[in-house]
Amino acid sequence: MPGLTIGDTIPDLEVETTRGKIRIHDYVGDSWAIIFSHPGDFTPVCTTELGKMAAYAEEFEKRGVKLLGLSCDDVKCHMEWIKDIEAYTPGCRVTYPIVADPERELIKQLNMVDPDEKDSSGNQLPSRALHMVGPDKKVKLSFLYPASTGRNMDEVVRVLESLQKAAKHKVATPANWKPGEPVVISPSVSNEEAKEMFPQGFETANLPSKKNYLRFTNV
Ligand code: BEZ
Repeated sequence: MPGLTIGDTIPDLEVETTRGKIRIHDYVGDSWAIIFSHPGDFTPVCTTELGKMAAYAEEFEKRGVKLLGLSCDDVKCHMEWIKDIEAYTPGCRVTYPIVADPERELIKQLNMVDPDEKDSSGNQLPSRALHMVGPDKKVKLSFLYPASTGRNMDEVVRVLESLQKAAKHKVATPANWKPGEPVVISPSVSNEEAKEMFPQGFETANLPSKKNYLRFTNV
């Protein structure tokens, strides 16, 4: 069976977390959510990542996003580990729940299993996977990194902003786009519609084909 990917609905499981039992769909509610996995507790890169995620919590909150971490170790182990995470990233508070998945059920259903990494007992471990989920509980975007590469939270915020802009307006974000820069108007929007939808105006790139499909605006 192919793994969970863009457009799929995330499984609605009841899971144990550092904030008690939660049902995943109830937790997402009407918000956006970011579900991100880590190879293991008390490992170096993961300790930096969870601290950075906590340090960026305000950025996510103001964009209406709920965070849900995941590592296979049990809740007791997560609680001990949080002390290290908070000590390493001063000022951060890990207030988002971290799921425990000792049976590896959730990492399988969320397509987060690393094909290579195993713990000392030979059990499967998660990769650095991250799913951005819309209020409809569907995956809008996924990252899949190996254990050796820590994620960049500025990039997480950047792509989130892109997704939220695209969900709100008929726009997309071009290569190397950063928040605040012009966006492009979706090809499905005619020039007549664009004049109505973007009263602030838009600029069309003059390309050899003269097809006028690369139009920039600000939203
Ligand atoms: C880390 O978080 O540093 C890590 C975890 C598992 C394998 C390799 C690195």
